[in-house]
Amino acid sequence: MGRAENARVPDKDISLKAINYANHSDWDSIPSGPYPEQVVAETNEDLELLCSALREAGVEVVRPTPLNTASKHGNGHWEANGYYTYCPRDSVLSFGHHLIESPMPLRARQGETECFRSLFLRAMQSGANWVSAPRPLLLDECYDVSDVQPDKLTLRESEPCFDAANILKCGRDLFYLISNSGNKLGAQWLQNFLGSEFRVHTLEGIYSYMHLDSTISLLRPGLVLLNPARISKDTVPAPLDTWEPIWCPEPVDIGYYGSYCHSSTWIGMNLLMVNPNLAIVEKNQLPLIRLLEKHRIDVIALPTRHSRTLGGGFHCVTLDLLREGNPESYFS
Ligand code: NVA
Repeated sequence: MGRAENARVPDKDISLKAINYANHSDWDSIPSGPYPEQVVAETNEDLELLCSALREAGVEVVRPTPLNTASKHGNGHWEANGYYTYCPRDSVLSFGHHLIESPMPLRARQGETECFRSLFLRAMQSGANWVSAPRPLLLDECYDVSDVQPDKLTLRESEPCFDAANILKCGRDLFYLISNSGNKLGAQWLQNFLGSEFRVHTLEGIYSYMHLDSTISLLRPGLVLLNPARISKDTVPAPLDTWEPIWCPEPVDIGYYGSYCHSSTWIGMNLLMVNPNLAIVEKNQLPLIRLLEKHRIDVIALPTRHSRTLGGGFHCVTLDLLREGNPESYFS
């Protein structure tokens, strides 16, 4: 589970504009530098509650080491400072015995996986296949910010790039969103890496911005939560169209701190399934909670006061590292 210490909005560069702010018209009003102390402290309180809930549900929780996000890194072509360690879901794809460090398209997030170093070293010693996808160069030509429009992607097909949160794992099938935070070359790299035993389904034209987990939430085999602002009955991606859909009710807007807005209100559907009958959901999302309960899913309702401010709900701030069982085939 992530941590909020040292979270900062990186200095402005072309990658930040293309990846995090392609849907913001007022680039000049975007803050940079450390997140306000109140945001960090309250977020860490909320994360502690999430830790306790998971531990009570029998989950062993481990945490990354905070990074010095003020220090600069680079690759000879550019320099950037760091971002945060709040969303492990973005920087690593844990899949079976693989721990895959993702080729993230934001310059500020290169090197973020340093926060997992000692955890992954131990995991590797216990048999995990710890790898890094090819490190992207992230040259200026990777990004197209010349004429930013909702349906025009800002991430070019120069080299494989993705945040792991563009992916949802579903047994032997993976859903991969093509968007500003994941390109087709990234999907190709992942398919080649995993091999023909697994199927990477690319989703196109659904949502151009960051990540898949405020658009689709896999609840349990056969049941999926969908965002009706981004997907309609006719555009449910195959093979998920064989599952029963729950259309997410309009989320309750919990607001954000100052001008630190890093996600839409749909972060409210960014829930965490602990098991097929238990979800952890943001406590203000009462219409969603009632709907889940109708489908026999118990809900633990917890706060994430700054999920819009930091751009991460319960699914984003967690990463399942080790689970029991083997990969299933949920689609025949
Ligand atoms: N970028 C998404 C949130 C991803 C967890 C949104 O704003 O809806």
